Amino acid sequence: MADPVIVVITGAAGQIAYSLLYNVAKGDVFGKNQKVVLRLLDIGPMMGVLKGVEMEINDCAFPLVSDVVATDDPGTAFSGADVAMLVGAMPRREGMERKDLLKANAKIFKSQGECIDKVAKKSIKVVVVGNPANTNALICAQSAPSIPRENFSALTRLDQNRAQAQVAAKLGIACDAVKDIVIWGNHSSTQFPDLSYAKVLDGEDWVEASSKIQDDDWIHNEFVKTVQTRGAAVIAARKLSSAMSAAKAIGDHVKDWWNGTGPRIVSMGVMSDGKSYGIEEGLMYSFPVKIEGKGVYKIVEGLNINDWQRKMMDVTAEELSNEKKDAFQFLLSE
Ligand code: NAI
Repeated sequence: MADPVIVVITGAAGQIAYSLLYNVAKGDVFGKNQKVVLRLLDIGPMMGVLKGVEMEINDCAFPLVSDVVATDDPGTAFSGADVAMLVGAMPRREGMERKDLLKANAKIFKSQGECIDKVAKKSIKVVVVGNPANTNALICAQSAPSIPRENFSALTRLDQNRAQAQVAAKLGIACDAVKDIVIWGNHSSTQFPDLSYAKVLDGEDWVEASSKIQDDDWIHNEFVKTVQTRGAAVIAARKLSSAMSAAKAIGDHVKDWWNGTGPRIVSMGVMSDGKSYGIEEGLMYSFPVKIEGKGVYKIVEGLNINDWQRKMMDVTAEELSNEKKDAFQFLLSE
């Protein structure tokens, strides 16, 4: 058996981590033959709760878990780490402005990036989940200059999974009979869930999703709105934000990044290179990607973009550009 993969999960005492840890520990992410070391990071006041999470992991007697470390010290958590799932973030409290949230989180992700830069493996793969995920991922990447930009990403897989489930429900088919949906831009209500290249299984053949849906109005309006506002709908119903589905999406994202996607298109927030789809360089923007070799994604180039898509893609890019400006302004004024 290969050496254990050292996996850091931040926000480990929180609700997403509670599902995520189970998925990682039982082999859903790195495979049923891959041992893992779990490093659980949270803040000091949560150490009591985290102790309980650690006790439960031990009580599961997972054969693949070779060690569990629960800590509030980022240096201990990130030391020699192969993968980091950065879930922990400052939550938005009542009365808090969006800018306050951005500021609090800019600080957290800057210091975590600096720590990763110092002590993690240079090959570490980092997925940022804590919101605002894309901008936090950008700050983290910029704070870790010795680690390649391509090793940082932001989670938009939950949006992709939500979109896939909406199409499956619309057509009365299974979720795995839907593929190649693209999420463009920010993990926020400006994101653009796009069915232009999506395919669905018709018998043995993959066919254009739109030719089966036959409802352009739904594709342009209800579908987009439903996916954009799904997080808020879950909060309204559950009085808590998405957790099981977020954990599943983090697992999907990392599993694909680790093992490859083959010809499937998936969406990841990745650093824009300024050459892809007219998106300004240096934004952590969600693009369609394929992962061919282990751990190396490529933006899928050459997809046709019509005027409606262009507008939708630019709206979410503009939001990211503004978030970036605000976040870096805070960091400079520190
Ligand atoms: P939660 O509030 O249950 O848990 C967050 C945990 O993070 C808490 O235990 C907290 O103490 C910890 N934390 C805060 N600052 C930390 C730091 N500096 N280092 C380590 N841990 C720290 O929240 P939940 O539901 O688990 O969500 C976590 C984050 O994920 C939120 O920001 C949420 O908005 C975001 N999210 C992102 C999604 C995406 O698709 N990108 C989907 C769903 C949630």
